[in-house]
Amino acid sequence: MSSNVINVAIDGPAGAGKSTVSRAAAKELGFIYVDTGALYRAVGVNALRKGIDTKDKPAVAETLSGISVDLVFENGEQKVLLNGEDVSVEIRTPPASMAASDVSAVPEVRAFLFDLQRDIAKRNNCIMDGRDIGTVVLPDAKVKIFLTADPEERAMRRFKELQEKGSTVTYKEVLDDLLVRDYNDSHREIAPLKPAEDSVVINTTGITFEESVNKIIETVKEKM
Ligand code: DC
Repeated sequence: MSSNVINVAIDGPAGAGKSTVSRAAAKELGFIYVDTGALYRAVGVNALRKGIDTKDKPAVAETLSGISVDLVFENGEQKVLLNGEDVSVEIRTPPASMAASDVSAVPEVRAFLFDLQRDIAKRNNCIMDGRDIGTVVLPDAKVKIFLTADPEERAMRRFKELQEKGSTVTYKEVLDDLLVRDYNDSHREIAPLKPAEDSVVINTTGITFEESVNKIIETVKEKM
């Protein structure tokens, strides 16, 4: 990896605030923000559209032939393209979240998305968030952060976000969904969610959004 770009890897469980906190920190630092979960979500949406069982690993692997998934950045905002179509909104529904968690356990899917993530990081100062960025995708990242929070707090944040969007989902459903995804993401055989050995762990339970952003910026500045 070129030494004159700065890559910040931020990993952690669903709902830890990675995306909002990373986006704000990236803006402040003048870096691009790369949300790698969007890539898995796009593959998940593609599988849902094809009507296949997203737990059927060989069937999911087959959906990769002939598809294209891309990230484009417009005014610093990331958009995810599936076969050239902007699916940035469709990937945020609860079924897309569960499909993303399922397809992310398929080795072929991880291999398919690997180069795309590496290429973006090679060319840009970026904050890249995901589950395996510090451990697998960018093991040489200058800064590695593991951002986490208690499950109940993460579920409450997600629940409020969904409510604001007009969703009728209950808190209990959000919490149950999140616990299933936590379990899947940290117990899969390939690239399971876990802190890189050299990561700084930041727990955002009970701290404000601004405090979380500041902690990240401080950590990045210390390591630079
Ligand atoms: O961060 P997110 O909730 O948008 O991620 C959606 C799913 O994709 C999540 O269940 C785990 C998976 N994922 C992954 O396995 N590796 C990444 N680098 C990013 C996301």
